[in-house]
Amino acid sequence: MVDLPFTFTLPTPQVIPSKVDNHIERRLSAMQGQFLDQEAFNKMLSVEDRLIYQVYEIKRPEVEGELLMGVSIVHPGKVGSEFFMTKGHFHSVLETSEIYYCLRGEGFMVMETPEGETSVEELSPGKVLYVPPRWAHRSVCTSRQEDLVTFFVYPANAGHDYGTIERQGFRKLVIDGPGGPEIVDNPRYS
Ligand code: F6R
Ligand code: ZN
Repeated sequence: MVDLPFTFTLPTPQVIPSKVDNHIERRLSAMQGQFLDQEAFNKMLSVEDRLIYQVYEIKRPEVEGELLMGVSIVHPGKVGSEFFMTKGHFHSVLETSEIYYCLRGEGFMVMETPEGETSVEELSPGKVLYVPPRWAHRSVCTSRQEDLVTFFVYPANAGHDYGTIERQGFRKLVIDGPGGPEIVDNPRYS
């Protein structure tokens, strides 16, 4: 049977799509080892398992030729001086890309290749970011009060490799400096 085209609406300022097949909630406890300041992490976790980000996915078969899309919402907050962020990942099929369209909020996309090239791009409403094949990516919300909301599209056969980032972290971190958000080297990167 041939798939039929479909539409859905993504009204703004409401950012939850009218069609949602899967809703993911990632809390602080799922981010163990990702933030630099372990003490601040433990302290925050002892008080509350804060909701860090959510993803609304529109499902399609995970095969070549299909596209997956959805909305990612990173909430404002910090662990120590490091802003709330997604776990971040490489695609398992490294040679796959992704497009992000920023709908709301302020932040950055932190990216790197397996060869150690890095790039950090600012996100603000209306901005489209192209993440080329091979680049791991993590969104970081630097708004004080507002969510960072992005719409994303990527090849459905891409898959996710979280392990590499879980082990090593990203080479660059986004922290709250005296003059606002700062991009710094990750001192723990090996
Ligand atoms: C998919 C993709 C986004 C992220 C989402 C949550 O390839 O990059 O949909 O999945 O922003 O981030 P992660 O997956 O790193 O927890
Ligand atoms: Zn991705």
